[in-house]
Amino acid sequence: MQTIKQNIKIDLKNEWLTPINLIESLGSFDLDPCSPIDRPWNTALNHFTQIDNGLKQNWLGRVWCNPPYGKESQKWIERCIEHKNCIALTFVRSDTRLFHDIVFPNATALLFLQGRIKFYTKNGERADSSVSPSVLISFDDYNAEVLKECQLKGFYIDLRN
Ligand SMILES: C[S@@+](CC[C@H](N)C(=O)[O-])C[C@H]1O[C@@H](n2cnc3c(N)ncnc32)[C@H](O)[C@@H]1O
Repeated sequence: MQTIKQNIKIDLKNEWLTPINLIESLGSFDLDPCSPIDRPWNTALNHFTQIDNGLKQNWLGRVWCNPPYGKESQKWIERCIEHKNCIALTFVRSDTRLFHDIVFPNATALLFLQGRIKFYTKNGERADSSVSPSVLISFDDYNAEVLKECQLKGFYIDLRN
């Protein structure tokens, strides 16, 4: 944990970045509300970082959200549900309250990715395969269709019916 000016506490343990080709295969995004302070590449047209606190900002347009993991992730997924025009990426934790009480009742579709993602460090270096499987989640019709039609390998489940 680092403290920078204005007494903002910066936590660097969640700096695992999504491969940019995975994000690009889902189209373009207007906002990444939880982006590293020093990012090696853009993930959207606009970015919020820990300095801005993306949870306290207005979210506009189509949002890409790979949130901080652990207990923090619930607040971000709830914000995605509120915003709707969003795709979230998170670890598959299908035994948790997060999934049973929040994700399953509110998502429009899920794409369980085949294989493990190799995330990147904030220096742009590729890490080893993730310790957990990952799932992409949509919260509206448009992004459900994007998950259905994208070229990423995985198992798509439509939750709209
Ligand atoms: C798992 S990483 C994903 C980074 C990026 N969204 C991506 O998909 O490559 C989560 C990011 O959230 C950032 N973060 C943590 N708390 C935040 C906050 N309150 N506001 C904005 N960003 C935050 C971290 O610094 C980290 O870069």
